[in-house]
Amino acid sequence: MELAELSSIKPRQIKLLQENGITDIKALSMSVPGDLEEIEGISGKASKKLIWDARDVMGMSSFKQVSEIVENYDFLTTGSKNFDEILNGGVSTGRLTEVFGAFKSGKTNLAHTLAVTCQMPINEGGLDGAVLYIDTENTFSKSKIERIARRFGFNPQKILGNIYHARIYSTDHQFQMIRAAEQACIDKNARLIVVDSLMALMRSEYVGIGMLAARQQVLNKMIHELSRIAETHNVAVLLTNQVATFMKGTYSANDAIGGNIVAHGCHFRIQFKTKGFSANTSLERSAIIVDAPDLPPEVASFFITEAGISDSEKVEYLFDEEKATPPAKKKSPKKKKSSKKKAVVSKSAELSDPLESL
Ligand SMILES: Nc1ncnc2c1ncn2[C@@H]1O[C@H](COP(=O)(O)OP(=O)(O)OP(=O)(O)O)[C@@H](O)[C@H]1O
Ligand SMILES: [Mg+2]
Repeated sequence: MELAELSSIKPRQIKLLQENGITDIKALSMSVPGDLEEIEGISGKASKKLIWDARDVMGMSSFKQVSEIVENYDFLTTGSKNFDEILNGGVSTGRLTEVFGAFKSGKTNLAHTLAVTCQMPINEGGLDGAVLYIDTENTFSKSKIERIARRFGFNPQKILGNIYHARIYSTDHQFQMIRAAEQACIDKNARLIVVDSLMALMRSEYVGIGMLAARQQVLNKMIHELSRIAETHNVAVLLTNQVATFMKGTYSANDAIGGNIVAHGCHFRIQFKTKGFSANTSLERSAIIVDAPDLPPEVASFFITEAGISDSEKVEYLFDEEKATPPAKKKSPKKKKSSKKKAVVSKSAELSDPLESL
C-alpha cells in the first residue's frame, strides 16, 4: 500500500521516508520510532504517530486469528540436495539465515552459489530475482560466478548483470548499505541479500571489552533492519559469520562471534565444518543445523567445487558455450561492389544475441 494512502501523512513526510528506503505502509508499520527520528525533518512525535497509524492500516494493532495467517516462504536451493534436504528445501525467504564456520569452510562458496541459484525460476528451486551482495572481505569473484552460472546452464553475462555488489570499507558503510538494500530490493527486484561477512569489520573496528556495548548496539540495528527487510519484501538473507576458538579444558571448540544478538536475531543458524582443521586435504564439508524455528538438528555433507557448492566433487557444465557463441562472421570475398542487402543481414546477425534465449 502506498504511503499516500495514510490519511495522517504529509507530502513532505512521504518524500523523506521514501528517500530513506521506507516506500510503503508495510515498511513503515515495521519501523522503529527511534530510527525515523534520525531522519531530519521528522520529529519524535510524528514518527510514533506515523508508525502507529501505519500499523492500524495493516491490521497490526489487534490480535489475529492464527487460521488467517498466510505463510508464504519460498526456499532457495543451495546447490546441494543433501543440504537442501536438512533445510526443508533450501534457504528460506522472509527470515535471516546465518552460516558460521572456520576459514575455508565454504561460507563464501555458498554465498556465490546462492547468488546464481536465486536467479533460477521458482519451480526449479530459485527465487526468480536479482541479488544484492554486501562484500566486507573483498572475496567476491566474478569468475566463480561465471563458472557456477555455466554449471547450472545459464549465460554467465546474464547472471552477472543481475548481481548488485557493494564493496564495504567500514561498519558505518555496512549499515548504510543495509539501509540502502530496502530500496534496492524494490528497484532491482532483488530476492536475496548476502552479507559476507557480518562481523569482519566490526571485529577490527571495535576492539576490547570497553567497545563491546557499542559494537552490540550497531550489530543489533543491522540485524533488526535486515530482519525487517526480509519480512517486508519476502527476500532471503544470508549472513556469513566468523568463529572464535574457545578452550574447554584441554579441548578447543569453535563458536560463532557476535554473541547473543546474532544468536537470537538469526532465525536459522548453520555451522560449516571442514574435515581436518589445518590441512586442506578434502573439499568435503558438513553443514549442521545449530538452531532453527522448526527443523531438527541435522547434519548434511556437501562438497566445495570450482563451481560452488555441490553434492559431488565432479562438476558438469550445462551451459553450451559453443552453441551460445555467435558464429564467426564469414569473410566475404573481395568484391568491388558490396551489396547493401548483405550488409544489413550481417548487421542484424551481430545485433541479435543468441544468448538472450537462455
Ligand atoms: N576453484 C576451486 N576449486 C575447488 N575448491 C576451491 C576452489 N576455490 C576455492 N576452493 C576451496 O574453497 C576454500 C575456501 O572456501 P570459502 O572461501 O568459501 O571459505 P570461507 O568459509 O568463506 O572462508 P573465510 O572464513 O576465510 O572467508 C578453499 O580453501 C579451497 O579449499
Ligand atoms: Mg569467506
